[in-house]
Amino acid sequence: MNELFLYLIKGSEKLDGNKGLLLYGPVGTGKSTILKIVQLYDRYSNGKDETGYYLSGGFPIESATFISNQYTRKGVDGISKYDGLNGIALGIDEVGKEPRVKYFGSEMDIIQYILQSRYDNRRICKTFMTTNMQPEEFEPKYGEYIADRINEMFNVIEIKGKSRR
Ligand SMILES: Nc1ncnc2c1ncn2[C@@H]1O[C@H](COP(=O)(O)OP(=O)(O)O)[C@@H](O)[C@H]1O
Ligand SMILES: [Mg+2]
Repeated sequence: MNELFLYLIKGSEKLDGNKGLLLYGPVGTGKSTILKIVQLYDRYSNGKDETGYYLSGGFPIESATFISNQYTRKGVDGISKYDGLNGIALGIDEVGKEPRVKYFGSEMDIIQYILQSRYDNRRICKTFMTTNMQPEEFEPKYGEYIADRINEMFNVIEIKGKSRR
């Protein structure tokens, strides 16, 4: 936890401030809560305008399921804002829980697609994720390409402990 705060102020020697965060572990251990703290830090550290309002609302957090459903409902237009081209950080909650969705008959994993695109754009925007998956489960689910790049995109952090739910 101390490292996480050092990471946010870019003072951590263990966590790379140029990468995002992948928080993994069992349910109820506080991963989504940490994601919200990172979001609030982002919001309050971006300064205020001349009238005293905070300049940015912090990056969005969406569940992987919500993102997949946006694709089902609206197609590529529904998910283009998550591809990282806009340079805005994104929190993806509960990666791995999303349904595999079909679009125009071709079945593709939307989170896999978004991770590929955000990998390409990783220098302009970070990605923060929570998941119940183990790191070794990424390859069978999202393919070798994504699995190989996880460590380049993320500080991979295990959140252990008993469920607090
Ligand atoms: N450090 C903590 N101490 C006590 N309760 C916590 C702590 N972190 C999270 N919680 C609570 O535990 C529950 C589960 O946290 P959550 O962040 O949703 O877990 P996860 O995303 O890992 O499943 C929530 O009700 C949250 O408010
Ligand atoms: Mg959660």
